Amino acid sequence: MGLVPRIAICPGSYDPVTRGHLDVIERAAALMDEVVAAVLWNPDKTGTFPVEQRIAFIENATGHLANVRVEAYAGRLLVDVAQEIGANVIIKGLRGETDYAYEEPMALMNRHLTGIETIFLPGDPSLVSVSSSLIKQVASLGGDVTGLVPDEVRDALGGA
Ligand code: PNS
Repeated sequence: MGLVPRIAICPGSYDPVTRGHLDVIERAAALMDEVVAAVLWNPDKTGTFPVEQRIAFIENATGHLANVRVEAYAGRLLVDVAQEIGANVIIKGLRGETDYAYEEPMALMNRHLTGIETIFLPGDPSLVSVSSSLIKQVASLGGDVTGLVPDEVRDALGGA
């Protein structure tokens, strides 16, 4: 470790966390000194899961990673949160071109606002089709999402 700890922020709605998110958090934790999984939520919108539950799902799934912690921020700019926690970099997963099209403007805007860079990790090929919204749709219609989200999340979605 150098004098300045390398701290990454892995932001998301995490509504709920998926194995795809967890793969990125785990890989970020192997690269950095500290990782903050930041649940950024909009206080004007009701998500599927209350923010406390989103946090608990991530904490329970990352308990084996000593350098990962979970925080939640309501109605805040990601770059403001990143500066507050001293993050040197934003780390996100990319599942392909569609993700890149969505992520690139945000990465450039975040760099414009504060100079913070975003590093993209390629999504694990076995998880490219996994998104929180697709998981919720499949589970709500009775599909089995085992292995794509933690078992606790699957059970909360009623897809057990
Ligand atoms: O899981 P998601 O929905 O892909 O996460 C998107 C998120 C929360 C990372 C993004 O919407 C975000 O950074 N929101 C915080 C508000 C903000 O900083 N907006 C400007 C982004 S350039």
